[in-house]
Amino acid sequence: MPAIIAHGGAGRYSPDEEHERGLKDAVAAGWRILESGGSAIDAVEAAIVVLEDFPVFQAGFGSAMNLRGEIQTDASIMLDDLSCGAVAALTAAANPIKAARLVMEKTDHVLIVGEGADHLSRSYGLESRDLCSPERKETYDRMLAKLRAGEEVASYLPRLREVAADLSMGTVGAVAVDSDGRIAAGTSTGGPMLKLPGRVGDAAIIGAGTYVNGNGGVSATGVGEPIIKHIIAKKAIDLISHLGAREGIDTLMEYARINDVRLGIVAIEENEAIALGYTTDAMSWASMKDGELKTFLSTGIGVRKDDAGDKAETGDSSGKVLET
Ligand code: GLY
Repeated sequence: MPAIIAHGGAGRYSPDEEHERGLKDAVAAGWRILESGGSAIDAVEAAIVVLEDFPVFQAGFGSAMNLRGEIQTDASIMLDDLSCGAVAALTAAANPIKAARLVMEKTDHVLIVGEGADHLSRSYGLESRDLCSPERKETYDRMLAKLRAGEEVASYLPRLREVAADLSMGTVGAVAVDSDGRIAAGTSTGGPMLKLPGRVGDAAIIGAGTYVNGNGGVSATGVGEPIIKHIIAKKAIDLISHLGAREGIDTLMEYARINDVRLGIVAIEENEAIALGYTTDAMSWASMKDGELKTFLSTGIGVRKDDAGDKAETGDSSGKVLET
């Protein structure tokens, strides 16, 4: 039985109706492909394209800007036979996830960055777009002014980390299993606001932001650097392989909490079990399985909003593990 889950990022933010609409549209786009017998990789790409085109998410159009006011995007995509592709510091493509798929399907490489990634995207006719949204520009100006209020340039790094961590809230991703049992996952982001030019985050790193093998697939979101250091996506799949989706993610959340890794993760196991968890204040996602659509917007205050609009207390959001 096919299934798909998509997320709209973990961090400190307040998911609203627009996030919910984007996630529902994303899952619906993926589901249409899956229910007509299409592949997991097509479903993942379609879902992420929808999220990249939605300006509320910090991926594709609406990506955050780096310190120089430029947008540099990261994305990765992977299939359960370990085929994978990724791009980093891409500037032109409207849909970075499509560029990642190009790397996977049209090249002998796994990761292509910067100018090379832009060139590849253009060569294959991917649409280019100015990814800067008015909302994001406003945030950039405000954050830059805040940064400049510091005493000297060398002192800004700790503060930069502080503000960037709070703004890492818009990475998107999806995981799907199709009717042939194939699993795919992908992740896409503009990275945190005011990141240093050239900085590459977990979304471009296979094993950190995205990983898939025969046991399952995951997409991670959150502060990229600790996610890379702890190889979170691969760790998640190893845990899922040994413990199953729910207990695997549960154990990962315990590990993330102990090691202060602020993240969110969505996973599908080979038996189609869906699991997810997060250690940030907020996270948003939607899933579709057995024809049933579920959405979840964590507002960061431990309140769960389900698809019917009901609200139910979920208690402490820290390290929560949920299964749909
Ligand atoms: N997780 C997105 C980033 O840190 O780039």
